[in-house]
Amino acid sequence: MASVGDSMRRRIANRPRRGGGEHADETAGAVEPYRDAPLYDWEYRRRRHDVAFYRMLADERGGPVLDLGCGTGRMTAPLVRDGHRVVGVDLSETMLGGARARLGRIAAPRRQRGLLIRADLRALPLRGRFPLAIAAFHTVQHLVDDGALIAFFTAVRRLLADDGWFAFDVFSPDPRWLSRPADEWYDRVVFRHPTTKETMAYSASHHLDADRRALHMRFAYQRLDSDGRRVGRRRTVKLCHRQLNPDDVQRLLRRAGLRVLARWGGFADEPLLWPPAPSVATNGAVHHTEQHVYLAGPRPARARQRHTP
Ligand SMILES: C[S@@+](CC[C@H](N)C(=O)[O-])C[C@H]1O[C@@H](n2cnc3c(N)ncnc32)[C@H](O)[C@@H]1O
Repeated sequence: MASVGDSMRRRIANRPRRGGGEHADETAGAVEPYRDAPLYDWEYRRRRHDVAFYRMLADERGGPVLDLGCGTGRMTAPLVRDGHRVVGVDLSETMLGGARARLGRIAAPRRQRGLLIRADLRALPLRGRFPLAIAAFHTVQHLVDDGALIAFFTAVRRLLADDGWFAFDVFSPDPRWLSRPADEWYDRVVFRHPTTKETMAYSASHHLDADRRALHMRFAYQRLDSDGRRVGRRRTVKLCHRQLNPDDVQRLLRRAGLRVLARWGGFADEPLLWPPAPSVATNGAVHHTEQHVYLAGPRPARARQRHTP
């Protein structure tokens, strides 16, 4: 007969390990890049093309807009400034702090149209029907399992108006970049940290977990002295992205009662080339479509009945 001690030992052994258990690097890869919100904002300060795209959708569809994985409010704040009501959701308190600060810079009463909620996309605690939901800047790729993605898409479906739109984008790396030797360090960049004002350098490396379809990227940050020599502790930040091609996206949306209404290979109407076909620019350079942008909507009820097992 099993003793109380045995059952306690079993419970301890089965308890999820601190930091994410079996797929700890995937969990860390959805959290670590978002611990330094000012650095995040500084790194992506020139990324404006996606903001223009999501603003255009909100103008077309109207609010309230559900901004899923809103981060520091890169989308939330401009949408509120445009006059829309926006509900921003994110798991990171640090990133939400950045979003709060952005909203605080918008004049009243408009800023009151922004509401920020701390929640996990895998268990959205929201009600209501939104004409537009967005998940900007590769946010969906933090959900690695099919199960987590389907749960998230199903919740989005529940929160969408019957003619609502769900827009999101996915990073689809160039196969030549992807095939770089795993765990070699590339792309050294020297910069001044926006808060500490220290001169720093970072380099990046990555490897693909082909079984999980999880791309593990690492960014190593280190301070430089006045002669450009590395000093102090090297800090490594993990970033993990589920790899999603257009067939995966279509299949997973469908399981959640959604369908692709439109898709692009960028934010300015570029075609999404799938199966992948590198495009050649006028200067002869070969380009791969790295930004996949999707617009989805609810599947009509009859189509769902016919195809859903
Ligand atoms: C690349 S950032 C995008 C932020 C913002 N949408 C933008 O365009 O700048 C991804 C965001 O997703 C959030 N995130 C990751 N996993 C999450 C989860 N399971 N639930 C809620 N938010 C999550 C992160 O905290 C981060 O703010």
